Amino acid sequence: MAEGGMESSPAVCCVSVRSSLLFLLLCPSVLSQQDVRPNFLLFMVDDLGYGDVGCFGNDTIRTPNIDRIASEGAKLTHHLAAASMCTPSRAAFLTGRYPVRSGMAAHHGIRYLPNIASTGGLPPNETTFATLLKQAGYATALIGKWHLGLHCASTGGLCHHPNNHGFDYFYGTPITNFRECGEDGESIYYMSHLYAIYKQICWAYLAGAASLLLMKFLGKIHVRWLPLLTLVTLCTLVIAFPKVFLVQLRPWNCLLMENEKVAEQPYSLRDLTPNLVNKSLKFIDENAGRPFFLFHSFLKVHTALFATKEFEGRSLHGRYGDNIEEMDWAVGRILDALDQKGLSHKTFVYLTSDNGGHVEEISVKDGQREGGHNGILRGGKGMAGWDGGIRMPTVLRWPKDIRPGTVVDEPTSQMDVFPTVLRLAQLNTPADRVIDGRDLMPLLTGTKNLTDHRFLIHYCGSRIHAARYRPPTGGSIWKAHYATPKWDPGTEGCYEIFLCQCRGDYVNHHDPPLLFDVANDPFERSPITPESEPKFAEIISTIDKGVKDHMSSVEQVENQFSLRNILWRPWLQPCCGHFPFCSCTDVA
Ligand SMILES: *[C@@H]1O[C@H](CO)[C@@H](O)[C@H](O)[C@H]1NC(C)=O
Ligand SMILES: *[C@@H]1O[C@H](CO)[C@@H](O)[C@H](O)[C@H]1NC(C)=O
Ligand SMILES: *[C@@H]1O[C@H](CO)[C@@H](O)[C@H](O)[C@H]1NC(C)=O
Ligand SMILES: *[C@@H]1O[C@H](CO)[C@@H](O)[C@H](O)[C@H]1NC(C)=O
Repeated sequence: MAEGGMESSPAVCCVSVRSSLLFLLLCPSVLSQQDVRPNFLLFMVDDLGYGDVGCFGNDTIRTPNIDRIASEGAKLTHHLAAASMCTPSRAAFLTGRYPVRSGMAAHHGIRYLPNIASTGGLPPNETTFATLLKQAGYATALIGKWHLGLHCASTGGLCHHPNNHGFDYFYGTPITNFRECGEDGESIYYMSHLYAIYKQICWAYLAGAASLLLMKFLGKIHVRWLPLLTLVTLCTLVIAFPKVFLVQLRPWNCLLMENEKVAEQPYSLRDLTPNLVNKSLKFIDENAGRPFFLFHSFLKVHTALFATKEFEGRSLHGRYGDNIEEMDWAVGRILDALDQKGLSHKTFVYLTSDNGGHVEEISVKDGQREGGHNGILRGGKGMAGWDGGIRMPTVLRWPKDIRPGTVVDEPTSQMDVFPTVLRLAQLNTPADRVIDGRDLMPLLTGTKNLTDHRFLIHYCGSRIHAARYRPPTGGSIWKAHYATPKWDPGTEGCYEIFLCQCRGDYVNHHDPPLLFDVANDPFERSPITPESEPKFAEIISTIDKGVKDHMSSVEQVENQFSLRNILWRPWLQPCCGHFPFCSCTDVA
């Protein structure tokens, strides 16, 4: 673990020898200040839906540990991710800023970083709260998923790596879990109907070329060899390419790193949950005597699904349910470690999901639903405006100030964690940039009962699809949709293309916008009309103005998803063993 800065910090020196009476006498004021600084334990689950958690209304899935955080602390029923996809959502979470401000909002259809050997990622001049905590002497670690880039330059340099964004210690995947990382050979490419059509065209093409070849061979027709053979070769390549690509995707994308070294490639999923839990327990054990920040970022419950033997077939909801229950078990193990070390009273605990359940995730093999369930909310992952994509099951616990069983129904944002954490750690929020998050504590302690977010803007990539407006009085929370994804007929998902898109023919535009009162109609079932709401025009113009003001605060920055920035560069591929056959197993 990095030791940098320790010698220069008297607070840390004090604690590392805290048993020494001499030091107690020498620096009592520093020590008492040290004592009040909280630890932070933040959990982020991948693709967990609003309806997948017991305390959010699911009575058949077992999540006792998450429920316990809520009953000992608070439940945020209207807590919003800044994006309905992982990369931008996580960028906003760690920086307290809308993804568009850091260039982490895509202009095109690929809204997450698709490979690790490219140059896009969270820019070095963006400041995460991990960086600020680390500078203040906290021990910091990220265990699990990162997905905010690795290298900035074509020459390497790892500037997007978690170690360079405030985490002393990193163990996990620099990218994400993919369906391709499973051992069953399932792939999202196979799930897309586009791929099926494409494959059929290719086979037809190849069959045509083969019959031409045969007829030529039998002397029935007269064509030249060269063009014919070229055609056949091309066809074969076209069919073979995705296959080769898929076979290679697993070793290339499914890897674990420990700090800057590849630890396991491709990773084995079976014991991944206890493996990551062990790393977190070790970190807590080693840092129990000083303030720490642990970000346990699950690879679950994204596909490929995986569970230890113990959890296989245990839930009432198939593989997906097993994954939720194993994830909850992991949360419990880490909370138990806090209890055992006597740290629970001084540790701020928070759990959320990066985006909503992925409704289009269905196994090709046996038709099981492998994506989350968004409960009382409409839509899901990838659908930027519908609450199913962005309203996250969120619980937190902070025994010092939050009464057990607190419920906050006001709209809040994951970007709020940034200023909240900094305030609890008695640190200033950066003043040289726009911070979109607001301190959560006044709402959590009841000194305020109205959110500071008059408006929340809902982006799909770099486009604004919707905006939410909380008027200062009254019980309504308005949401205007300017654009919504076109769902497949008779469904509420984009099954044909697997994930809804943000622009062009893939969306419907609404003018006037589709308006809902999400406080009273969380499923967004009944659109508000000028007939049903006399203030319709006024509400819409207020929201329009809120959106305009927001837009005028956004500066142009380099886009991290530009084609240049997402291009796969073989020489940047982390690889243990001999490229392209990267392979090693964790010996740690
Ligand atoms: C509970 O979660 C499972 C798994 O996502 C889902 O299939 C089920 O419908 C949910 N039940 C309720 C009552 O929300
Ligand atoms: C986790 O740690 C426990 C206790 O030290 C050990 O028994 C177990 O094998 C470890 N599991 C993994 C997957 O590393
Ligand atoms: C909360 O709301 C009520 C009614 O809207 C108001 O009377 C009360 O003063 C508010 N409390 C706080 C702490 O702001
Ligand atoms: C980071 O650097 C870029 C490029 O110079 C600049 O456009 C952007 O405003 C900077 N961001 C911050 C937060 O300073």
